[in-house]
Amino acid sequence: MKTVTCTAPVNIAVIKYWGKRDIDLILPTNSSISVTLSQDILHSKTTISTSPEFSQDRLWLNGIEEDITKNKRMHNCFRETRAIRKEMEDKAESAGSPIENLSTYPVHVCSENNFPTAAGLASSASGLAALVYTLSQLYELTISTSEVSRIARQGSGSACRSLFGGFVAWEMGQKEDGSDSLAVQIAPETHWPELEALICVVSDAKKGTSSTAGMQSTIKTSPLMNERINHVVPARMEQMTKAILDKDFQSFAELTMRDSNQFHAVCLDTYPPIFYLNDTSRAIIQLIHEYNATSQDGKLKAAYTYDAGPNAVIYAPKENMAEIIQLIGHYFPSNKEPTAFFADPYQVVNG
Ligand code: DP6
Repeated sequence: MKTVTCTAPVNIAVIKYWGKRDIDLILPTNSSISVTLSQDILHSKTTISTSPEFSQDRLWLNGIEEDITKNKRMHNCFRETRAIRKEMEDKAESAGSPIENLSTYPVHVCSENNFPTAAGLASSASGLAALVYTLSQLYELTISTSEVSRIARQGSGSACRSLFGGFVAWEMGQKEDGSDSLAVQIAPETHWPELEALICVVSDAKKGTSSTAGMQSTIKTSPLMNERINHVVPARMEQMTKAILDKDFQSFAELTMRDSNQFHAVCLDTYPPIFYLNDTSRAIIQLIHEYNATSQDGKLKAAYTYDAGPNAVIYAPKENMAEIIQLIGHYFPSNKEPTAFFADPYQVVNG
């Protein structure tokens, strides 16, 4: 039996992925950019064992076995990583130095998140990134991280961005087979250490409309979505990349807030509409704008962003974070203590 354990971090998009042009391959209708958060507090941890003694592929999620017989996405990840391992095995065989035929054995996967699953905290991103990264380590695949991300994309779109630390772009690609739809690192986690993220857990309840279902409904029914895909996002991808490379918080913050707002606007433009924000989420948006308006030099001091749920992520320079935590604590006293996270890379715990 061979066993490997790895962890993968959460990423929070600043230019949002919303919409697929190919549902099976998970090919997006626009490129996106995210920041990978430190995995000290938020991560998925996955252990995979493989053995000729196992009778079938099995998965335990947070200690409970899940039926994966109909889980196409997971099987795509198994199939893709096994195919690359098989090639390695065949090559080794013909070179006269065979390696173990791991690609023919079933796997047992145990995965756990140390935060609420499906509460809009990107659990599918870290979970599927951990799955595919652990498989790549188990099979000792000699492929680039972007190639690993191409496979993780087929598990959950946003997962491809969790393969890198720091600032990451998922390039939508042009090809029909998805071979050029993968993640690339814009800048490493060491690039902008002054930038911090604060997670405000407004609710840890499971979300009403899944991202997968929600985005397809938006694609089908929202006229605003065409404008977003064809005009708004392509320009923002360039502007955001530049803002990150220049460590320009003003542009970074404005683009982040505008893109979050437009993502929630296309949700509202979906018919029937999708609501991910609640009253507390909207109150936090207002609070951040009021806080920014208190700036002496007119410069933005913080930016909010929301995924498919009510929880806020606030990006700000380190120097403002204590003040922001105090403000949030003052206006939302019943909330649990918010926590600040640094951008940080993923790491292999035990290869
Ligand atoms: C709002 O990656 O969860 O968080 O590809 O269907 O698994 P699937 O969707 P998923 O969608 C994430 C959407 C988002 C924005 C983002 O992370 O870019």
